[in-house]
Amino acid sequence: MSDIPAPIAMLAELTHRCPLSCPYCSNPLEMVRGAQEMPTEIWADVFAQAARLGVLQLHLSGGEPAARRDLPELVADARAAGLYVNLITSGIGLTAARLDALEAAGLDHVQLSLQGVRASTADRIGGYKGGFDRKMDLARLIADRGLALTINAVMHRTNLDDLPRMIEMARDLGARRIEIACVQFYGWALKNRAGLQPSRAQVDQAKAIVAAARADSNGRLVIDFVPPDYYADYPKSCMGGWGSTGLNIAPDGTVLPCHAAQTLEHLEFQNVQQTALADIWYRGAAFNAYRGNAWMPEPCQSCPRKALDHGGCRCQALALTGDAAATDPVCRKSPDRAKVDALLAEGETGTDADWVYRMSPV
Ligand code: SF4
Ligand code: FES
Repeated sequence: MSDIPAPIAMLAELTHRCPLSCPYCSNPLEMVRGAQEMPTEIWADVFAQAARLGVLQLHLSGGEPAARRDLPELVADARAAGLYVNLITSGIGLTAARLDALEAAGLDHVQLSLQGVRASTADRIGGYKGGFDRKMDLARLIADRGLALTINAVMHRTNLDDLPRMIEMARDLGARRIEIACVQFYGWALKNRAGLQPSRAQVDQAKAIVAAARADSNGRLVIDFVPPDYYADYPKSCMGGWGSTGLNIAPDGTVLPCHAAQTLEHLEFQNVQQTALADIWYRGAAFNAYRGNAWMPEPCQSCPRKALDHGGCRCQALALTGDAAATDPVCRKSPDRAKVDALLAEGETGTDADWVYRMSPV
């Protein structure tokens, strides 16, 4: 236990219910229904356990966390536990009055997702008419209150060409940071990969736009950019390494090493309603399955980059090779890299007319 670091961040998926139906939804294929969600007092205990374990930052997420009527109480409970509280929201369901209640409860930071830079595109991507205008109203309410704001921009083939305007909008809305995340392909997004995968030209152009915007902004707007990793030579350091910096709690209390971990069906995930969070983190079989380096196959085992990327993403390895312990096939050294190249070679085979939208559980 002593050589296992404490987690820094915890993502609490308060609910999987959501008014939007994005075609790249990152919630698991099997979603938790409203009746199975943990009540306020159990979440409060989980927050207190997390703080004792060493967690500093709490990300309240979903689905749409504003679908929980007790959201202000949950924020107050988390603050009482000593956690920095960030709300990740689509903005739908948040009014001026609710924002006031959240501010009074001690909310530290809001991350507002934008699906596009104009109503026609954004509402089509999110599958929610009127959503864009409501997000713009909410962003103004957040700015009026002086709450720290980050814009979450999920980009893909349909909206990547609007990146310059997206960065301008983040500035205009008073955001301190923009997280530009190209869709990563697990779970539901895999169903729509052919219609979401940007072209190499789009990705190269996006990189140049981000570099120019960073130089131009002089630190006033922090720009994070996650490119689509199929085009990369080496994989991302997913979760900073399995079981090393963060953990996720599903709405029913299932504790997961990452948001897509339930695709690893050979692992058994424990529930915080039955087992203490510290036991799950330090001693849980799922958390120890891919911790450290011992599990790694070659070429990772003898690769100097293993300390940087931890062999890449376990969920992507499983999705593309059928083996969660394989080297992430995005890696140029992986014996399975040809699988990623074949997906890229398929090119633009789908359109947004083919998208399968995500439907919310009740
Ligand atoms: Fe990372 Fe493994 Fe590739 Fe080395 S071989 S770069 S450790 S994924
Ligand atoms: Fe699960 Fe990368 S998303 S390890």
